[in-house]
Amino acid sequence: MTNLDTQFFVADDDTIQKSAQILANGGVVAFPTETVYGLGADACNDRAVAKVFAAKGRPSFNPLIIHLANVKDVSKYAIMNEQAKSLAASFWPGPLSMVLPLCKNSPLSDLVTAGLDTVAIRIPKHPVGHALIQTFGGAIAAPSANPSGRISPTKASHVIDGLDQKIDAVLDGGDCQVGLESTIVMPLDDGNVALLRAGGVSIESIEAVIKQPLQHAEQPDVPQSPGQLLSHYAPNAHLRMNVDKPLKNHAHLGFGNVDCDLNLSPQGDLIEAAANLFSMLREIDDFAAQNAHVGISVAPIPEHGLGLAINDRLKRAAAPRD
Ligand code: TXA
Ligand code: MG
Repeated sequence: MTNLDTQFFVADDDTIQKSAQILANGGVVAFPTETVYGLGADACNDRAVAKVFAAKGRPSFNPLIIHLANVKDVSKYAIMNEQAKSLAASFWPGPLSMVLPLCKNSPLSDLVTAGLDTVAIRIPKHPVGHALIQTFGGAIAAPSANPSGRISPTKASHVIDGLDQKIDAVLDGGDCQVGLESTIVMPLDDGNVALLRAGGVSIESIEAVIKQPLQHAEQPDVPQSPGQLLSHYAPNAHLRMNVDKPLKNHAHLGFGNVDCDLNLSPQGDLIEAAANLFSMLREIDDFAAQNAHVGISVAPIPEHGLGLAINDRLKRAAAPRD
């Protein structure tokens, strides 16, 4: 692939306009959402979407999430049942993605849906992300803006670290507030809702809205989310989870009131820990390299609220690599 001269834009009206123009011309632009930075392309333009896969070096064409400005735009692409409508009313705009059946004559690129008859949709809350989608005026397909298999970016500088000269521009809108990818659910025909990926909206708050338990992927008949590779979010150093006392020659990533090299949340606050997770994984990885540590030991994280999504990401970071 030829090297691109990646433009770095600090977000304002003018650079949002320029970014929207690059998207309209078939380019790829990294932009902030409240979860992580996305690598965006016009979701109806096959060539533009193909550039996203090329820039990330994705091993396979997993389906992508499309990002819309408003709930009323959903009907151009997909169909919402009653559960989908109540979830939309409660969590959009916000860190929830829904996998919905495509409507007839959907204009989306087959690369976005990977040929499936469903599409994952998100309406981000981040003011800069929202303004970009609104100005562009269509659907922006965007995976997280990191090379395939690496840690997701929660700052514009993370995007540059991984994708400089591979994308047309980065729109810097500051740090991502949530810091974890969106929760992905799929409302099913029978009124059940399947959880495809834990993320920025907690399971408990979703179950409170749908008034029933979420179906989990291990259960029969629940569709799997393609592209949930086990080894993912990988730092360079090996990672061990649930470690109370750091292993020898390990850097220690703590949680709560513990002595450690870096702390996800000294107060033991899971929301703060989620927001810090990806940037601290990068930081502790650099620290481990500088101190000739052989690994990273991570303190136990409670399995409730956003702790489920944090532990899911840590499990992938700790998984054996190919
Ligand atoms: O917070 C987020 O969700 C970020 C920001 C940028 O929006 N995006 C993100 O995208 O995490 P990505 O591509 O890294 O993950 C999208 C996930 C994949 O695991 C994919 O398999 C699943 O969404 N997905 C997309 N379309 C799907 C579909 N039609 N059916 C099932 N899973 C789908
Ligand atoms: Mg990703």
